[in-house]
Amino acid sequence: MQISCRDGEFHLSSGGMSYIFALDGRGAPRHIHFGAALSPDSSYRHLLRLVERPFSIGSMESAGWECPTIGRGDFRIPALEIEAADGSGVLDLLYAGHRVIEGKPPIPGLPATYAETEDEALTLELCLRDAVSGLELYINYSIFEGTSLLVRSSRVCNRGRGALSLNSAMSAVLELPDPDYELGTLSGAWARERHFVRRRLAPGLQGISSRRGASGHQHNPFLLLSRPGATETEGECIGVSLVYSGCFTAEVEVHSHGTCRARIGIDPADFRWQLGPGQEFATPEAVLVYSARGLGELSETYNSFYRSNLALGYWRDRHRPVLFNSWEAAYFDFTENDLVGMAEGAAALGAELFVLDDGWFGLRDDDSSSLGDWACNLSKLPGGLAGLARALGGLGLGFGLWVEPEMVSQKSQLFEAHPDWVIGVPGRPRSEGRNQLVLDLSRPEVVDHLYGVFHGILSSASISYLKWDMNRHISEAYSAALPPGRQGEFFHRYMLGLYALLGRLVEAFPELLIESCSGGGGRFDPGLLPFASQAWTSDDSDAIERLSIQAGTSLVYPLSSMGAHVSAVPNHQLGRSASLDTRGAVAFFGVLGYELDPRKLSEEDRRGVAAQIAFYKEHRQLFQFGRFLRLRSTWEGDGNEAAWMVVSEDRREAVVASFRILGRPNPASLRLGLRGLDPGLLYRVSPLPAEGSLSSAALIAGAGSPDVVQRENAGLRRGDELEVIGLLLSGEGAFDPPAGDFSSRLFLLEAVFGH
Ligand code: GLA
Repeated sequence: MQISCRDGEFHLSSGGMSYIFALDGRGAPRHIHFGAALSPDSSYRHLLRLVERPFSIGSMESAGWECPTIGRGDFRIPALEIEAADGSGVLDLLYAGHRVIEGKPPIPGLPATYAETEDEALTLELCLRDAVSGLELYINYSIFEGTSLLVRSSRVCNRGRGALSLNSAMSAVLELPDPDYELGTLSGAWARERHFVRRRLAPGLQGISSRRGASGHQHNPFLLLSRPGATETEGECIGVSLVYSGCFTAEVEVHSHGTCRARIGIDPADFRWQLGPGQEFATPEAVLVYSARGLGELSETYNSFYRSNLALGYWRDRHRPVLFNSWEAAYFDFTENDLVGMAEGAAALGAELFVLDDGWFGLRDDDSSSLGDWACNLSKLPGGLAGLARALGGLGLGFGLWVEPEMVSQKSQLFEAHPDWVIGVPGRPRSEGRNQLVLDLSRPEVVDHLYGVFHGILSSASISYLKWDMNRHISEAYSAALPPGRQGEFFHRYMLGLYALLGRLVEAFPELLIESCSGGGGRFDPGLLPFASQAWTSDDSDAIERLSIQAGTSLVYPLSSMGAHVSAVPNHQLGRSASLDTRGAVAFFGVLGYELDPRKLSEEDRRGVAAQIAFYKEHRQLFQFGRFLRLRSTWEGDGNEAAWMVVSEDRREAVVASFRILGRPNPASLRLGLRGLDPGLLYRVSPLPAEGSLSSAALIAGAGSPDVVQRENAGLRRGDELEVIGLLLSGEGAFDPPAGDFSSRLFLLEAVFGH
């Protein structure tokens, strides 16, 4: 890791990555390179091609910029746009100084990645100044030891005499010399979030955004630029991810000169920030990852960086409890006896935490009322939250509670008392979503109220976990507390309010485990990770749909952040019935939970669930914190196969799962090459279910006799054979067991000592 600054040329290098820019003759910082590492001892200034092209304004569009602005002849998407007191928008940002800082400074009020020790990171702070307006821009570039990534954010300071309006302030721009990339995004909808989709870059503008007041189910604040044909192990890839949970844009512009500019940050569409003299504005940060070796390396960089340098606090490295959640088991319809009955069943199966979902407060028997009235419904729970917590404690279970603090129902006492606390334009009707309205978290008094309420709840009973939900997006975005000229600040102020609220609660209850949620995975983004160590990945608990959702999510986010539950069949979202084995095998790759009523399980399934939980606990370090590898993904080939694997840091232990969506008669021979093993080690391969480890329904039905796939793979295999030749999945002709649709295989690999 090194930052060198010589003769106006800056070179940041760490891991296998270099980031280089240089000041031109006027002192404007021009981008040179982001990608594979180059020697920090050479100069690359000669790569700046400051030529004037036909019908261009000087060299404005012939080279990249560190902070492109509008109005002086660069007509591409800018990083920074202002309106000065005189109504003009032109900026000319020139070098005004720099310093190199050990470690990485925090961003006040915003979630950010961090270095645990000062020698883990280096930060270059570059100061640029516009002489006419007095605007100063500080760009922070941080690099981390041994890691091929760069974290970037900006601070805009008004040092002039007049007020400025900040009309767009990106977290990062990235200039690339050619457009030969595919643009990959994590896109979808409710119940099918973060499917990985790729398209070839084309001339002009392309990208994704959210104007919803949340990152949303539709697109994740992330984009991937990968060389065409890049695979899990080959091809250059660049990731751009935003540490933010609100409205965002992530765009790429392919210019007619054959260059390409990406930018990511707060969506400028609804953004205007008034900056009085002496005031500052800090952008969220962006994390740019470079991989020379495909998607797999890119994901591993993001996964481990977000797990260790963004997730924060008590739960960051701790084993997460196996939970049972009441939602799909009972929805709104339960009594205390029901809950205790379910909890007894869950405890007997090995659960560690029981989560009471929606329906426990106010008069909430459906989704039409009571959000905002966070008092326990004593007709459902006569012993109150404390009574239920005690009962669960007696069963050896922690108590988790669902809450949706940002929302209010029109049918609620809170709404009656404080109608002005609700987001909306005075004089216009407010649109409802799921019968609810959104509280104005841009107002400090609303944040204080919510802090008081939830501090009270968390103090009133032994609650170890919160599921923090957010079940609609923001319409009629307007705060009664902001003057008309500042309404463009509303969305970001809302996010600052939310982060402040979460920060205060986490500080008051440092051992509280928070799982963020927004109709499933509608706010599964880096911005919430420092507060909520895990997120509910999707309301869709169908194992087959989850193959795409969890794999897409894993492009950026670590397994320790993904709530993954086994639910009842037929599945409530899709009506599909996958076997308990397959449901378990998918949910193992994340933070395992169950979303069903244990009292309704058959005896056979009860044994199966107990065995799953025991197996998961035994390998929990691997499943939650191991190195995750996608061996096959539903976005490849005909989409019928998927295979995942987790490997321990020392490469001595691994679990491999393979999935086949539709069964095929007389299937083609199929082998699965593994990755991440030590080629010289000898591994004991145990195809599961194996006696004593995982007693599945299939094994019981088959009276315990291993099938041909189990027999063929069981035994001692060297790491090199497992990687080069692989495991046999099918192709034994007549002896292939007919597994039906939605089938799965699990293999446990343990290095044999002494080899
Ligand atoms: C959202 C969540 C669900 C559940 C319901 C309760 O949809 O994603 O898991 O908590 O709310 O209303």
